[in-house]
Amino acid sequence: MLPTVAWDGDVVSMVDQRKLPAKEVYVRCRTAQEVARAIKAMVIRGAPAIGVAAAMGVALGVKRSTAHGTKQLTAEFFKICDLLASTRPTAVNLFWAIERMKRVFSAAVQAGASVEELKARLEAEAARIHDEDVESCRAIGRHGATIVPEQARVLTHCNAGALATAGYGTALGVIRGAVEVGRRVEVFADETRPFLQGARLTAWELIRDGIPTTVIADSMAGSLMQHGRVDLVVVGADRIAANGDVANKIGTYSLAVLAREHSVPFYVAAPLSTVDLASPDGASIPIEERNQRELTHVGSQRLAAAGASVWNPAFDITPAAYVSGIVTEHGIARPPYATSLRALIEQRTPALT
Ligand code: MRU
Repeated sequence: MLPTVAWDGDVVSMVDQRKLPAKEVYVRCRTAQEVARAIKAMVIRGAPAIGVAAAMGVALGVKRSTAHGTKQLTAEFFKICDLLASTRPTAVNLFWAIERMKRVFSAAVQAGASVEELKARLEAEAARIHDEDVESCRAIGRHGATIVPEQARVLTHCNAGALATAGYGTALGVIRGAVEVGRRVEVFADETRPFLQGARLTAWELIRDGIPTTVIADSMAGSLMQHGRVDLVVVGADRIAANGDVANKIGTYSLAVLAREHSVPFYVAAPLSTVDLASPDGASIPIEERNQRELTHVGSQRLAAAGASVWNPAFDITPAAYVSGIVTEHGIARPPYATSLRALIEQRTPALT
């Protein structure tokens, strides 16, 4: 399995996703600040992977602290949490993971843990978050396999694969799960402008797994569906509101509308850590706007005419009404999502809360 992000002694190492597939280069972060910079710059991206990296960043920052007492360490801990929380606003897994680290830290402080014990507890919690994410993705794959026809042409957007998680993937987890039980799957990967997660990362991952993959420009999805060449759309999510509205990579909403028009099932695959019951609907989800340069340039080469203004939202909201089902590690939520998502969260095992 691809080592998306790993705790490597006193270093958090991650494959540099800006450079794939041309180069497989690893970035080694030695401080929480370096982890925060890596998340912001999209060395690592994808909601669950961002959460895992942030948890490791917190553990790393605290491990490197020279604080002698719990009081000083506590002040540093909360600063590190704030720094990591300021990196990307939409992926709720980031805040979920930091919240878990805070709960473990506070409980240990209350129990009278020493500085060394606190460091060890945080390191163990970050490792748990990592391992649980892999398990969740595998479970998403098992549940998701049931929605994939015997012979399926699946369209996906962005990269919701091993690279976007601790391993295996969510949307690509569904595809992998289906292949593992013998379905014959062919994938169409939207190139996913402007960062090209589909063309660069999804296609790379799937081809490595021997799954036939065709890259299309985002603007080709409608025509592909019109020609009856898509049986199923599966995408990931950065945040799912309590009512089932889904924030995911910009362009997801257009796909959902097209899928409805062409009667193609549209599924979202995500761990329950992506469900945010505190966001009542999509309108309450903050949408990250990124640097104009992502749109105007490819590498150092300017493509867009100088002087044009640029709008570069990284995500959009797909209303729940377009979503056929949400595949989670605990089963598939169906409309109405306000009740089905809550029910899945309530039955979640304590280890995953
Ligand atoms: O900007 P990115 O690359 O972090 O956006 C990623 C996505 O939109 C993914 O679809 C989502 O995070 C789910 S990843 C399992």
